[in-house]
Amino acid sequence: MLTIGVLASGQGTNLQALIEAIKEGSLPVRIGVVISDNAGAYALERARKAGLPAHYIAPGPRLTYLVPEVEKKYVACLQQHGVELICLAGFMRVIKKTFLSAFPNRIINIHPSLLPAFPGLEAWRQALEYGVKFTGCTVHFVNEKVDAGRIILQAVVPVLPDDTPETLHRRIQEKEHLIYPLAVKLIATGRVSPGG
Ligand code: GRF
Repeated sequence: MLTIGVLASGQGTNLQALIEAIKEGSLPVRIGVVISDNAGAYALERARKAGLPAHYIAPGPRLTYLVPEVEKKYVACLQQHGVELICLAGFMRVIKKTFLSAFPNRIINIHPSLLPAFPGLEAWRQALEYGVKFTGCTVHFVNEKVDAGRIILQAVVPVLPDDTPETLHRRIQEKEHLIYPLAVKLIATGRVSPGG
């Protein structure tokens, strides 16, 4: 059975969706470890409640990425737990070389827009401000460019006339919780090959 590792910086609702799908028997993988760059991340709490190994690894000096020495610590921890596929679930750091070369085509991410539209932060707010009528979410492989790797799955969410950033993000997240476990399943069952 495929072992996945989940990296999360915040609430961890996508982690929860993966945990639930595994419990229900619809996702044939095991979670080897959950790691956060934020000691107070609720994601760590969710992992512990589910009986999973959960670690905080200090992110080091940079705000937006992990310097190579720190990436090495993450990679070592993931390898110690036998991780074969990394799932970024609201992990707020750009993934760099040390990670990518240790897990080539083996890192995926969920992003709250229909990529390539609205990469970057608060994509739901960007969509609302732009005035698009449909947005959504994307599961994609991670490469050296931000939010730009090959797409695995997408789901569409209509933008409603009275949406606020919060209501729109909530509806996008409902779809995230469906497509993230499904995308992991497609990889675990060999229906999507590494890299897309
Ligand atoms: C999600 O909206 C995801 O698309 C983005 O970060 C958010 C994480 O939410 N990458 P959660 O921590 O899984 O609740």
